[in-house]
Amino acid sequence: MLIDNYNRVISYLRLSVTDNCNMRCQYCMPAEGVEFSPVKELLSWEEMFLLASTFIELGIKKIRITGGEPFVRKGLMDFLHKLASVDGLEEISITTNATLIGEHIATLKSLRILNVNVSMDSLDKNRFNAITRRDYFDVVLNNVHQLLQNGFNVKINCVVMNEQNTDDIIPFINFAHANNVDVRFLEEMPFNGHSKGFDRLEWDHVKIMDHITAHFPTVNRLHSVAGSTSENYTIENRKGSFGIIASFSRTFCGTCNRIRVSARGELQTCLYTSESVSFKKLLGQNRDMEIIKQAIHAAIRTRFKDGFEAEEKTVFKKSMSLIGG
Ligand code: GTP
Ligand code: 5AD
Ligand code: SF4
Repeated sequence: MLIDNYNRVISYLRLSVTDNCNMRCQYCMPAEGVEFSPVKELLSWEEMFLLASTFIELGIKKIRITGGEPFVRKGLMDFLHKLASVDGLEEISITTNATLIGEHIATLKSLRILNVNVSMDSLDKNRFNAITRRDYFDVVLNNVHQLLQNGFNVKINCVVMNEQNTDDIIPFINFAHANNVDVRFLEEMPFNGHSKGFDRLEWDHVKIMDHITAHFPTVNRLHSVAGSTSENYTIENRKGSFGIIASFSRTFCGTCNRIRVSARGELQTCLYTSESVSFKKLLGQNRDMEIIKQAIHAAIRTRFKDGFEAEEKTVFKKSMSLIGG
């Protein structure tokens, strides 16, 4: 089992398979993109599988596949086939922008990979396209409906941005009801690859909640899910649910159960810190998995107490596409 220096059990790995993306969301990167890594600098699929298997041996129960956009990397489905057969892994989930998932729905279903979080920041086509700087609104909406029709557990992630999409909050709550789905409102974080300034957070979790309760006074809080970043609620007489993720306010660090591996094979022990161990380098030197295990244990024993402490000791604010969320 992986237990950190604050006695938190680490059972959830966020594994980024690529830093590249086919969108250019304003809160994530500048219009011209960021410096994506050449494929040879990424973990190969074989290295990634070896590493994932090692993490599972150490006690990881849930792996979330992230990016960039995971489906832009060729070979993802073969990797998922292999990963789905590893003993000890209880859950594989994916976070995606849902532009390219359509053709893979049947295979994902056959692999029982049914938890898909979709980034979708507006239900208004023009606004959606302005935020993502691409023209994929119809494709994304169609794929969300396909996923739902096929029985996937879909969560919609909406990053709330001042003066950009706050008019979408109530329509998203109505969308949750109409489609019996979970919609989560995320506080914006400063990981935008310097594409825009970030002085202070206008729409924090409190303001988001106040806005919702001004329209729907009777919200009921659901039981917290262990290790979840999201506080979840239902609204009386309405289907679906909504959640609020205080990603900038960082209210949940005390129960953090997660670590990250970037597509370049770097371990990141908190979203707000920079990378530590380079697995790409270690795997290149030799294939001694004991050394890898020791490096993981050492990193887990020196985690920050919370995202504030991590941020204080980190200078560089990257693009989310390089972190994987
Ligand atoms: P579930 O497995 O469904 O609970 O998903 P998740 O919320 O862990 O994953 P998802 O990829 O959907 O992330 C949703 C939002 O939560 C993103 O904006 C993430 O960046 C943010 N988030 C995820 N993990 C952390 C974390 O450790 N710290 C902070 N501050 N935010 C996080
Ligand atoms: N702030 C908050 N959330 C972000 N995401 C990407 N960049 C940011 C940011 N700067 C979200 C995406 C995706 C999740 C993994 O992270 O919308 O749903
Ligand atoms: Fe791509 Fe996700 Fe970044 Fe948007 S937030 S540009 S979908 S990696």
